[in-house]
Amino acid sequence: MKSQILGTGSYVPERVLTNGDLERMVATSDTWIIERTGIRERRVVATGQACSDLATEAAQQALKHAGVSATDLGLILIATCTGDTPLPSTACEVQERLGATQAAACDINAACCGFLYALAIADAYIKTGFRHILVVGSEVMSVITDWTDRSTCVLFGDGAGAAVIGPSENEDGVLSLHLHADGHYSDLIAVPCGGSSCPPSEKSLAERLQFIKMKGNETFKIAVKTMEGAIREALSANNLTVEDVDVFVPHQANIRILKAVSQRLGLPFSKTVINLDRFGNTSAASIPLALDEAVKDGRIQRGSIVLFAAFGAGLTWASGVMRW
Ligand code: ACO
Repeated sequence: MKSQILGTGSYVPERVLTNGDLERMVATSDTWIIERTGIRERRVVATGQACSDLATEAAQQALKHAGVSATDLGLILIATCTGDTPLPSTACEVQERLGATQAAACDINAACCGFLYALAIADAYIKTGFRHILVVGSEVMSVITDWTDRSTCVLFGDGAGAAVIGPSENEDGVLSLHLHADGHYSDLIAVPCGGSSCPPSEKSLAERLQFIKMKGNETFKIAVKTMEGAIREALSANNLTVEDVDVFVPHQANIRILKAVSQRLGLPFSKTVINLDRFGNTSAASIPLALDEAVKDGRIQRGSIVLFAAFGAGLTWASGVMRW
């Protein structure tokens, strides 16, 4: 039995932070940011707005779009690396807010690949007989962003995207998901302190180790190679070629990464759904945010072949193919 996405939803905070705003905060320029990343602006939460707030809004939309009631959910998975608190999970908070009284709930952390990892878990559970599963990618990247570090603060944004998964009525739906990880590269993108290996201390706070550190240039090269490899793996597993792909919904880290990947594959860039220009890198939220946009504006139609690919901290990388 295949699983299918029955409905999608998304939410971004109202506050817009433009490249012009960042020019007033660090030594950067609108031109540098656009040329090197493709990002023009990003959204940032209001004071007190948490990961679960964004996730709940996106989830409510997805449930409505799917015509599924919260009490029909058997499982809630929130993909995030910026949950409300270490305990309890953000998924339990969302479960309570939705009134999803029958659902088990937990968070999944696979950084920017979180949505595809969670979708793979949902797909497996649908095959065991679960009827409705909510998968949300929700991130408040602004809380782990060092707003004094120009090499990272221009990149990230906040947002959430959601999908309701259920059994497919036919042979359409999730055709494949491939997940990968290599902890050897864990130091390329990391928040060094705040967890059990380095509990928060005066020293760690003074050294700003509660914020994301990234070796951007090295990460860039590996991102292009692994995304290309994961896509080739996905196409070959389904006997598809790039010509068969109708819409490409990638994780959104940098427009140059996406252009390089498309070029290497011979995949027309016009098939790529882009939201990083408006939202920056929203980590686990970027794919479901882009997916919701493409579903709602009609780029994705019934029968469309949709290709997914992601890359992120861990390192993790993943790909997927669906027939909508
Ligand atoms: N404004 C102006 N100049 C800057 C800025 C800035 N915001 N940031 C860096 N620079 C400077 C650097 O200091 C450097 O100057 P120098 O040559 O005098 O030393 C120069 O620009 C070039 O810096 P690079 O780091 O080599 O720039 P690059 O072209 O690699 O772009 C970027 C940096 C955008 C970070 C890119 O490397 C990238 O996108 N990397 C991949 C990110 C990614 O895929 N992350 C994975 C997902 S994240 C997650 O999982 C949470």
